[in-house]
Amino acid sequence: MFTAVRPNPTLSTTADLPLDLFAAIQDLKREMNAVILAHYYQDPDIQDIADYIGDSLGLSRQAAATDAEVIVFAGVHFMAETAKILNPDKLVLLPDLNAGCSLADSCPADAFAQFKAAHPNHLVVSYVNCTAEIKALSDIICTSSNAVEIVQQIPADQPIIFAPDRNLGRYVMAQTGREMVLWEGSCIVHETFSERKIVQLKVQHPTAEVLAHPECESTVLRHADYIGSTTALLKHCQQSQSSAFIVATEPGIIHQMQKKAPDKQFIPAPPLNHCACNECPHMRLNTLEKLYLAMKNRTPEITLPESTRLAALRPMQRMLEMSQGIKG
Ligand code: 13P
Ligand code: SF4
Repeated sequence: MFTAVRPNPTLSTTADLPLDLFAAIQDLKREMNAVILAHYYQDPDIQDIADYIGDSLGLSRQAAATDAEVIVFAGVHFMAETAKILNPDKLVLLPDLNAGCSLADSCPADAFAQFKAAHPNHLVVSYVNCTAEIKALSDIICTSSNAVEIVQQIPADQPIIFAPDRNLGRYVMAQTGREMVLWEGSCIVHETFSERKIVQLKVQHPTAEVLAHPECESTVLRHADYIGSTTALLKHCQQSQSSAFIVATEPGIIHQMQKKAPDKQFIPAPPLNHCACNECPHMRLNTLEKLYLAMKNRTPEITLPESTRLAALRPMQRMLEMSQGIKG
């Protein structure tokens, strides 16, 4: 039977929001000894108040290194969970607990355990965009910053399962020349870009470079002048001689691109339909208001069974060891 959930009267609500949210968040940060980590796909407001903005590798490293008591993770669930895996004794807050990930959802643990059992002797390399349960079933985690280098370090005769993103998997296979068994997962955002519209944009802006994230389909990647993680794309647009870029990843990154290269033009790659579906619906659930309330109320908190955390920690640590020289 459905049971109504009564609001907790001790928690602050939107009715209690201060007028100057930026100042209130800064005050809470000091009081709580908190650090705010944000992904580039967050709303510009959140990026502007974060202590650190980065890609998945950079955020994992920051989470591993911080001496703050509280980690406020402005990203999606698997990212905050990764911070908790690395910091069992810290309070890890996610502004909206419903901020999931279509890619992580495309790989349920029970089905993946069967898939793994059907491929004995395979080493499991999993992209960090997966749940703690999938990490616990993996041998090494990777991110879009280090996937190619990690696979290159695995002995050539070792068969590999790569999960959960088939597009990143295919990209890594093309870069390394390695065959891998792929889990057929994907990201709804990176599969939404229209190849036809990107080609049209290239005709309209003949000197613009196409920048693409490796989660995009090969039909988009084949038009890319540069492929990389969000941090790599951001660095590339600053270093490149080009003055215009067509950006095939979630457009939240364009806020940082414009800040770092204000004289350059950034054109979001269009989705197939007339929608805003190139924006990640999960990432965009977080708002500055929810971030303030999460800090004020010290909830929603990320929790994990210790056995899962320990099993997921091992492949995370392997990744951090194997990618020491790689920038993220
Ligand atoms: P990176 O920021 O690590 O490139 O990953 C992008 C992404 O899909 C985040 O969900
Ligand atoms: Fe997941 Fe895609 Fe959103 Fe990244 S952009 S969080 S992979 S749904």
